[in-house]
Amino acid sequence: MAGRSELRIIRMKDSHLPEVFSLIDNENWGWEFAEIQQIYGLDQGSSVVALDGRDIVGLVTCIDFGSTAFIVHVIVRKGWRGKGVGVRMIETVLADLDSRGVSSVELHANPEAVEFYNQFSFKRLEDITFFAKDAPHSFPEPSAPSESSFSWLSPDDAPALSEALSTVFGYKKEDVEKALSKTPPHQALARIVSGRATAMFLSRTGRDLNAAGPWFMDEPTRAEADGMIRTMLSAVPAKRVDVLSPASNEVAKATFESCGFSVAKAGIVRVARSNSAANRYPGSVLSLGHLGLI
Ligand SMILES: CC(C)(COP(=O)(O)OP(=O)(O)OC[C@H]1O[C@@H](n2cnc3c(N)ncnc32)[C@H](O)[C@@H]1OP(=O)(O)O)[C@@H](O)C(=O)NCCC(=O)NCCS
Repeated sequence: MAGRSELRIIRMKDSHLPEVFSLIDNENWGWEFAEIQQIYGLDQGSSVVALDGRDIVGLVTCIDFGSTAFIVHVIVRKGWRGKGVGVRMIETVLADLDSRGVSSVELHANPEAVEFYNQFSFKRLEDITFFAKDAPHSFPEPSAPSESSFSWLSPDDAPALSEALSTVFGYKKEDVEKALSKTPPHQALARIVSGRATAMFLSRTGRDLNAAGPWFMDEPTRAEADGMIRTMLSAVPAKRVDVLSPASNEVAKATFESCGFSVAKAGIVRVARSNSAANRYPGSVLSLGHLGLI
């Protein structure tokens, strides 16, 4: 095996994507190649690979939304772990983001890896739960959902949506607009009251799954949350649905479970490294993250 001195950290290129995907796929996190292409398509300047000769031995995928960046994957090839590759990749990515004036960097860490990020001044913000539901999307009555208050998004609603997304998630409005225009969601459900979105649920359909979120709901009740989730489920193709929720959100947990979701992974940790104060998501918010805006 080559020594550390021969390792190069370089910007990810289009031609790296198949090998990058193969490393990600080895972790069994459920990502599809198209999603990796989509992430790279959103930002071709922030992701890096670690190269030993021509072999990729590590990768960091990252999307710079403008004021905020989101690190999506951090992986070092087995056999190369514990040799400083991860540290060098993260240092490279952060130095680059800092030089561009990005004020906040976030990621969703495996619990075992939170300590790894502490050394770069990432702070633990909150725990996130990952729910999944297998198709078909049939569920028992009762609970007549209040579907009538929700509508599928029309182009006229786009300003209310980006306003709500930036307010609720703390992203700059122009960042949200850019992300939405580059990869518009396949399904966008919203409850608009007086021109303001008081609830919304975005979703994208991939080859094997529907990636649902981000979503939020002001002061959610079980009945309303139920209505929103069932309305979304009625519209997505009969494939698995993945969604994230702050672990503390009991309404979301109860509602997802009553709609047939189960906990796929608990204890994912949202961490942020920020020049300004990074906030926890409001209790009503399911996070941006696994395929949210990405
Ligand atoms: C996590 C991961 C990216 C770290 O990369 P790495 O190249 O093994 O780590 P490095 O050798 O650069 O850095 C290790 C340093 O971080 C520290 N560290 C703390 N917690 C750690 C952890 N859970 N894993 C690895 N390193 C950790 C080590 O003590 C070490 O510091 P030291 O050199 O002062 O002893 C790598 O182990 C990996 O790919 N794991 C599997 C995929 C994964 O879980 N990715 C993270 C998803 S959030």
